[in-house]
Amino acid sequence: MNRRQFVKRAVGGSAALLAAQAVASNSSGLRDFDSYVSSKKSGWAVEAPDVLTPLENVTNYNNFYEFGMDKSDPAQYASAMTLDPWSIRVSSDGGKTVDVQFEDLLRAMDLEERIYRLRCVEAWSMVIPWLGFPLADLIRWLDPQENYRFVHFQTRYTRSEMRGTRSFSSVIDWPYQEALRMDEAMNTLSFIAVGLYGKSLPAQNGAPLRLVVPWKYGFKSIKSIASIHFTNRQPETSWQAIAPHEYGFYANVNPEVDHPRWSQRYERRLPSSLFNPNRIPTQMFNGYGEYVADLYKNLNLRRYY
Ligand code: MTE
Repeated sequence: MNRRQFVKRAVGGSAALLAAQAVASNSSGLRDFDSYVSSKKSGWAVEAPDVLTPLENVTNYNNFYEFGMDKSDPAQYASAMTLDPWSIRVSSDGGKTVDVQFEDLLRAMDLEERIYRLRCVEAWSMVIPWLGFPLADLIRWLDPQENYRFVHFQTRYTRSEMRGTRSFSSVIDWPYQEALRMDEAMNTLSFIAVGLYGKSLPAQNGAPLRLVVPWKYGFKSIKSIASIHFTNRQPETSWQAIAPHEYGFYANVNPEVDHPRWSQRYERRLPSSLFNPNRIPTQMFNGYGEYVADLYKNLNLRRYY
């Protein structure tokens, strides 16, 4: 299916999503989206002081080190990534390995919109209207057979298309990898995004599908997923492997636990500038404690950062 068409077809009868699309296609600016969002009764709508981060910032200020380390590199270079065809290798400890076509997976899922805050470990944040489906739905559909303890993700790694992976200054042992505990993955907030602002995901945001875990620092939200593995051993994750004293496996947003080189008490809500820094206090679990605090009731969050 033509990728520009897929959202249109996939959302089919969902009135809210069709409304989102209508807004997206005839909108001239952020205001339209604001009225759409506040008219929604859904519990996911943003409330003041959160306003949607303009599409321009969401798609031009990115971290996607496969394409370079500057915030503007992904928008410039990620279009080199071949998105069609896209398959995802699904495997498990002791189980069989299958390749799932992205189109087949998409056809099996019901799409919905989720507006989430995204808090990067670098202390900036955005508010993004994602389009996608709960990770729990995907896991149920993939049907791992056993009760595994972790789910492990890897980003596509095509060296020829990813200039950042060929760079001498690249610190990551590619492919980029991330993982969640299974109860975190099955939590209602864990989401797989296939679009944003009512359209399919731009390459720089992790097309064609990426994880979004809104109560954790942004680096957990792995982009352009090419493999999913169910396992009982806690997997290695990219940033933890690079600097374990700075980046933990859990990476829950926590204003009480500073990064060794900077404070996590505040964040710059984009768009922000020198004269209008838009600095706001960071919330525990990025403000999603009501949904996720229970997952960690027996965990020392200072030790397991
Ligand atoms: N996924 C891959 N494969 N490579 C990356 O460099 N960066 C992470 C995360 N996912 C990254 C990634 C970081 S640090 C953040 S903050 C978010 O993507 C940024 O997502 P955005 O560019 O869509 O805002």
